[in-house]
Amino acid sequence: MNNVAQPWWKSAVIYQIYPRSFMDANGDGIGDLPGVISKLDYLTDLGINAIWLSPVFRSPQDDNGYDVSDYRDIDPLFGTLADMDRLIAEAKKRGIRIILDMVLNHSSDEHRWFLEAKKSRDNPYHDYYIWRDGKPDMPPNDMLSSFGGSAWEWVPALGQYYFHQYSVKQPDLNWENPALRQELYQILRWWAARGVGGFRLDVVDHFGKEPDKKIRVAGPRLHEYIRELSSEVLRGTELVTVGEAWSATPESAKLYSNPDGSELSMVFQFKHIKLDRMPGRENRALVPLPFLQFKQVLGRWQTELYGRGWNSLFWENHDLPRCVSRWGDDGKYRVECAKMLAVLLFGMQGTPYIYQGQELGMTNADYALEDYRDIGVFNHIREMRADGFNEEEILYSLHTTSRDNARTPMQWSTAENAGFTAGKPWIRVNPNYLDINAAAQQADPDSVWHCYQKLIALRRQHPVFQRGYFELLLEKDEAIFAYTRTDADTQLLVLCNFYGEAIDNPLYPENAAGELLFVSYPNISEPQRLRPYEARIYRKPYKTE
Ligand code: GLC
Ligand code: CA
Repeated sequence: MNNVAQPWWKSAVIYQIYPRSFMDANGDGIGDLPGVISKLDYLTDLGINAIWLSPVFRSPQDDNGYDVSDYRDIDPLFGTLADMDRLIAEAKKRGIRIILDMVLNHSSDEHRWFLEAKKSRDNPYHDYYIWRDGKPDMPPNDMLSSFGGSAWEWVPALGQYYFHQYSVKQPDLNWENPALRQELYQILRWWAARGVGGFRLDVVDHFGKEPDKKIRVAGPRLHEYIRELSSEVLRGTELVTVGEAWSATPESAKLYSNPDGSELSMVFQFKHIKLDRMPGRENRALVPLPFLQFKQVLGRWQTELYGRGWNSLFWENHDLPRCVSRWGDDGKYRVECAKMLAVLLFGMQGTPYIYQGQELGMTNADYALEDYRDIGVFNHIREMRADGFNEEEILYSLHTTSRDNARTPMQWSTAENAGFTAGKPWIRVNPNYLDINAAAQQADPDSVWHCYQKLIALRRQHPVFQRGYFELLLEKDEAIFAYTRTDADTQLLVLCNFYGEAIDNPLYPENAAGELLFVSYPNISEPQRLRPYEARIYRKPYKTE
């Protein structure tokens, strides 16, 4: 394979910060931009190349910032525009780019455009949103909001409904309106000019919605819009873009992440994330992960996108439970399990994402009802009550699936409130911070943190991680996730025991050979056995015929 210059993000590792829960610098209990700046050295030590920052724009915070009322300003909760400029500059000094989370499918109902839009039907901004005539209590159709209830909200003064796929405070923008689209592109260019490194596009697959046909995602004009956005904003720049696309398939991902640059850099796809959701009960409960399918799905994305697109690799984000609690063990083998999941993820082709605290093996939170804060949780509780679930079932559901599992404060140290704030944290700190925290792990060479640091360094050192072809091994094995990555001169073998029982290594002796690049346990093991959650990476020379 030749050495054509690749975009920087193909060899990058991206770290997601949920600013509200990352680091509070002024003691009001809410994380902020000065807090992020104070932790840039921590991130530099870890070795990441870019930060995806969940939204910090001006917002009534109905959905923690995913409801934006001014795309060109910072919410005072998080700081000022000057803080953002400082963050961009300080990060740049350390070789880190800042990726902003742009919520362009909807705005806040307190955005100037919406305040204008609801003044009258002939206001110039009216058509920036989606309105349908109707009568009270007779919404245009039965589409539902993701946060519960109808997706249509009645505005008596206009005699019209507006469409909102999320909360009533998140009216959907009308992407069919070319003036609106231009306005959004200008916002993106404005931030690019301020020096940001790229954008995460929130629910990008909703842009082409057609409510009259009850189309929410992947509408007929979706890719046309994305191509337009790309040529208006991205072409000729180094900006990285990642779209959040729950509906993505390998086929659509080849469009979204077309290597010709006509759309985006990559998308977050969720096929592997949906596998343990209980059918018909959405995210109210999880079933044990169907392991063979899990391997098959991830393997399929690896091979399908090889040379024809680009994968983003992730287990966690601010909407998902913690991976050790979800798929593994957050008790006895928490450390081993967290390391194994790290190796499994970092061995694949694509751009890896680390969600804050994942590098510590942070866990879900077993909270009481009053400790929850997420708008999604409140709707969830209401709906489960209405459907007759008892309190115990509801709590179990929240402990395993709620978005707040990922939103508990970052665990920095054993100091009060885990070192996150000197004030009263906006959401309860997970009491396990005394065991699980950054300070302890940075001091311990066998920690989950050091495992991530090592994996990031290995990816930088060995180009095969970036370009090697993926092949799934042991497809039918019920406990082992194994694959190779092969380029013109090197082959990696990634070998993971996905469960907590020691087992024989079926690849021994022929295939578990070569230099042991990484092992997730502190000492050398018996090559023919895999300990609970043990993960290894072997490297050997490879010759193409
Ligand atoms: C995305 C975000 C989520 C938010 C929703 C609406 O899924 O990740 O946090 O609630 O979009 O903006
Ligand atoms: Ca603060």
